[in-house]
Amino acid sequence: MDQRPLLAPGSLLALGIETSCDETAAAVVAREPDGAGRILSNVVLSQLEEHAAFGGVVPEIAARAHVEALDGVIEAALTEAGTELGDLDLVAATAGPGLIGGLIVGLMTGKAIAAATGKPLVPVNHLEAHALTARLTDGCAFPYLLLLVSGGHTQIVLVEGVGRYSRWATTIDDALGEAFDKTAKLVGLPYPGGPNLEKAATAGDPRRFDLPRPMKGAKQPDFSFSGLKTAVRQAATAAAPLSDKDVSDIAASFQSAIVDTLDDRVGLALRTFREHFPEIAHPALIVAGGVAANKAVRAALDGLCRAQGFVLIAPPPILCTDNGAMVAWAGLERFAAGMTEEDPLGFVPRSRWPLDAHSAPLIGGGRRGAKA
Ligand code: KG4
Ligand code: ZN
Repeated sequence: MDQRPLLAPGSLLALGIETSCDETAAAVVAREPDGAGRILSNVVLSQLEEHAAFGGVVPEIAARAHVEALDGVIEAALTEAGTELGDLDLVAATAGPGLIGGLIVGLMTGKAIAAATGKPLVPVNHLEAHALTARLTDGCAFPYLLLLVSGGHTQIVLVEGVGRYSRWATTIDDALGEAFDKTAKLVGLPYPGGPNLEKAATAGDPRRFDLPRPMKGAKQPDFSFSGLKTAVRQAATAAAPLSDKDVSDIAASFQSAIVDTLDDRVGLALRTFREHFPEIAHPALIVAGGVAANKAVRAALDGLCRAQGFVLIAPPPILCTDNGAMVAWAGLERFAAGMTEEDPLGFVPRSRWPLDAHSAPLIGGGRRGAKA
């Protein structure tokens, strides 16, 4: 009989630790014997203010901030969940990909807790954690398609099972969030650029600037955003000095180019999925990553999914962006499937760690991106 409060007998309980970028996060999550997930706590401490003055994430500052904050964040997660370390069945920590300093802090802390308590440690791939979140939030069945759009990654991934991923598309240069951030900076909007650019776009005219739709019509569903950024720079230079109206119009025109591009690129991936799995009546497209918070992007994806008979699943923003719950959940899924490392305490953090070992090495933003 499981003595832990509120847990179904036979449930597994995990602590998840996330430190791969600029969020210090920890969570306690349960996996019930039928595979259902339950978040008992999810504490996320953003370092936004530490990095704002620099206009982007500074790896050294991030690592130091993780060192200072992590113990307290873990303690808060355990307290909020009403659990103690002894109640846990496993400890999961992000081991890559990401900024190496942060990864070391999180993984070492996970190792220390595991060693001290005798609980198993599961090193987690951050991208896998994003990829499996929809099973925690929506019990999504395999296979499904994942669109991951964050500050460091822009990928379309076929998810067929735990550990079974095929990357169908990536960006050949900037990540989508990065494109939002750089465009925002170009027109003088403050960091973080994405949300501020979205706000500015609401009052703008999306037809005023004729911006390119990079890769539109290409046979592979890959992305490219650097040409769009260059076009924005040219438009901004030509219109300088920029009035508020100019900024809004550029923001709206940029967002409209992004929406068109997503429509084309993701549309292609959906059609390919249909060809692979004609027997699935209503397949799911999962969208994750910070850009998934953008309303225009969500609306475009929703329309696309409806038109093609897909169901769009967008986990709540707190679970779309980096968090500890997704890490705990990925650890639980791996543990339940018996897919654990032989020597987890000897696991070395990896700044690069592709989800799909068979896909070609990244040549663009996903590679540069420490974030996911
Ligand atoms: O997933 P995330 O929180 O962090 C990582 O990159 O790991 O994503 C952050 C990215 C940033 O580039 C940010 O500008 C972008 O997501 N973002 C947005 C919005 N909210 C966040 N981009 C467009 N519109 C938004 N509302
Ligand atoms: Zn991420």
